[in-house]
Amino acid sequence: MERVDLLLTGIGTLVSPPGNRPRCGQAMKEVREIKDAAIAIRQGKIVFFGPVHEVEEMLAGVEIAKTVDVCGRLVTPGFVDPHTHLVHGGSREHELALKRSGVPYLDILAQGGGILHTVKSTRAASEQELYDKARRSLNEMLLNGVTTVEAKSGYGLTLKDEMKQLRVARRLDEAHPVDIVSTFMGAHAVPPEFKGRSEEFVDHIVSDMLPAVAEEGLAEFCDVFCEAGVFSVEQSRRILLAAQRLGMASKIHADEIVPLGGAGLAGEVRAISAEHLLAATDEGLAALAERGVVPVLLPGTSFNLGLTTHARARDMIDKYQLPVALSTDYNPGSCPTESIQLIMMLASLNLKMTPEEILTACTINAANALGRGEDIGSIEVGKRADLAIFDAPNFAYLPYHFGINHTFGVMKNGQAVVW
Ligand code: NIG
Ligand code: FE
Repeated sequence: MERVDLLLTGIGTLVSPPGNRPRCGQAMKEVREIKDAAIAIRQGKIVFFGPVHEVEEMLAGVEIAKTVDVCGRLVTPGFVDPHTHLVHGGSREHELALKRSGVPYLDILAQGGGILHTVKSTRAASEQELYDKARRSLNEMLLNGVTTVEAKSGYGLTLKDEMKQLRVARRLDEAHPVDIVSTFMGAHAVPPEFKGRSEEFVDHIVSDMLPAVAEEGLAEFCDVFCEAGVFSVEQSRRILLAAQRLGMASKIHADEIVPLGGAGLAGEVRAISAEHLLAATDEGLAALAERGVVPVLLPGTSFNLGLTTHARARDMIDKYQLPVALSTDYNPGSCPTESIQLIMMLASLNLKMTPEEILTACTINAANALGRGEDIGSIEVGKRADLAIFDAPNFAYLPYHFGINHTFGVMKNGQAVVW
């Protein structure tokens, strides 16, 4: 090697899960921690990392274009947020009092509010308005240390408006430092014009929407809200299998409120991930484990919906050896926050996950929930230099000292994008 572009030195603590594969069970706790570390970067990739004296030895005689001293700070892989509803119009603070008075989430939806309210605002918004609003959220995520975000459609529910959302996500991916992974979620709710005719709406998704989305290459994944009164297991299966035939891998909003069998379906169709899972049965969790499905847990959502039950993270990790991932679920209804650092605190409080498990869940397991474990989600030679730098002595400090943003800097592909 003749040259490195950047040597990041003075790292007080470097912490990362090892390897590229999803980390299950006990392995979620085993993170690599290196004190007084350095990372060498060339062409946006990590070429060496380790204790500073070892990296310096490796670099003897190598030209170092630039050295940056992070003055004893904490460095982690850039976080991956694998489940968001990033692109949407409007907001729903007018439903707050209703929600707090105890009206259940699905009742608000059944009355034409909730997701359907956001459908109205999203349809009414221009592509540029959606773009500007989503860009602001993406900036917040980046400032939280997030370098890759999944973004779902699902507030258009017509071919034209779903495509509008997905095009916004594609433009943002091109223009913003954060990478965006797109998911088509036309089956997020039954729109008013199909009220009482959900089967016909499913036909429309399968025959018209999915082929058009695939044709333009606008989504890598397809997701379905498999829930009582929304889409049944049979309808979800139909949509997901049709999407798979067009090359879109499956994700499922599964067993969030009612144990409908979404986790079992995730296993059956070999989904890449199953989300929420508050009401998942033991049989459902066993199906995830058997088929290597990543459970994506969203503790911000149960917190904001005021629920007293939470996803069974401890059983998932200890009993079923599942590779749990965490995400914000950022959306205007059930979880209006972009803050992955708040989610870390809630994972500690309500899911009883340890700091090491939380780090693994927000990095390599989240990357694997998006099929990107080879490229991002850990500090390894050959991977992208997506790094977050915190004013914190160790990783546990993040879920511990809550309610503020600890980020000092963020590097994307070896470039400082926040400093
Ligand atoms: O993941 N559960 C369904 N979808 C979203 C909420 C969307 C909304 O309320 O606008 C979720 O929680
Ligand atoms: Fe969601």
